[in-house]
Amino acid sequence: MLKDSIQNLLGQVREMNAANAEELEALRIKYLSKKGEITALFNEFREVPADQKREIGQMLNQLRQQAETRINELKEQFEAKKAEAEKLDLTRTPDPIALGTRHPLSLVREEIEDIFSRIGFTIAQGPEVEDDKHVYGMLNFAPEHPARDMQDTFFIEKEIGVQKPTDVLLRSHTSSVQTRVMTSQKPPIRVLCPGRVYRNEAISARAHCFFHQVEGLYIDKNVSFADLREALLYFSKEMFGPETKIRLRPSYFPFTEPSAEMDISCNICGGTGCSFCKGTGWVEILGCGMVDPNVLEACGIDSKEYSGYAFGMGVERITNLKYRVKDLRLFSENDVRFLRQFESC
Ligand code: PHE
Repeated sequence: MLKDSIQNLLGQVREMNAANAEELEALRIKYLSKKGEITALFNEFREVPADQKREIGQMLNQLRQQAETRINELKEQFEAKKAEAEKLDLTRTPDPIALGTRHPLSLVREEIEDIFSRIGFTIAQGPEVEDDKHVYGMLNFAPEHPARDMQDTFFIEKEIGVQKPTDVLLRSHTSSVQTRVMTSQKPPIRVLCPGRVYRNEAISARAHCFFHQVEGLYIDKNVSFADLREALLYFSKEMFGPETKIRLRPSYFPFTEPSAEMDISCNICGGTGCSFCKGTGWVEILGCGMVDPNVLEACGIDSKEYSGYAFGMGVERITNLKYRVKDLRLFSENDVRFLRQFESC
């Protein structure tokens, strides 16, 4: 009886086949698991008379071995097929990698740096968290000068929630880098100071609590206002096209004397007057002037021997003029629909 069952199962095992790994697992369970048919025969084996035990035992072991071998064979077949399917095709065209885009402010900042580097300016960097001395004190702001308020400075509280007077602040212009350069280097000095600045303003389409500046400083013997004008005209033509004109209007900054604000001919209407330039044909782009002798002296530079000019512009403002970005907030919202428009730059 047991022999017949063994023969019968042996036949089944020889023909065992499976179309996939699940079917194969079903077969393993059917024959070899704890409740499997082959395992059941092993249980019956206990009843076999002693004189037949040897022969039937061998048959049973053979049956189990054949089942195991067949199952392993099938398993290997599936694995080989799977590996074949997953084989790398090195000749396949690769999926395109989505490249990021340059931020418009970076593009414009680099363009400004590039233009000034061609006339000998090098880049200088400084900290964003500054002290009063470098941002205001050495730049000829009197101790109670309202410009500290005028520029809506963010002061850093030494103890949280306690608004004690403090001289630690977020720089409100990168002129602070210029004071650092003047106190650590000897003239001739020709530096460009790009960087982020902070002012306590309500965020709107036209104002933000941080923005970016590029300021410039040139100190040497006999530097004149004409040199300043020439450098700024060169910059404006390079940045906005050869037909660009400039106009300097008298202004006031504590650190320059005389001081001026510079307009360029409106690059939208070409100077004939449009809604962008409010019909005037001019748009303001930067502040500038001759470095005040008090500033030179405060930084340890002999104002009788040396003179210099300085200028400062907002990168957002220049970007606006170049790319017509109407809302300042777009620059810091990281909306890829906006950023992607600068893909080809
Ligand atoms: N520091 C000035 C500002 O932030 C800009 C400026 C720089 C003006 C240099 C004159 C000379 O507005």
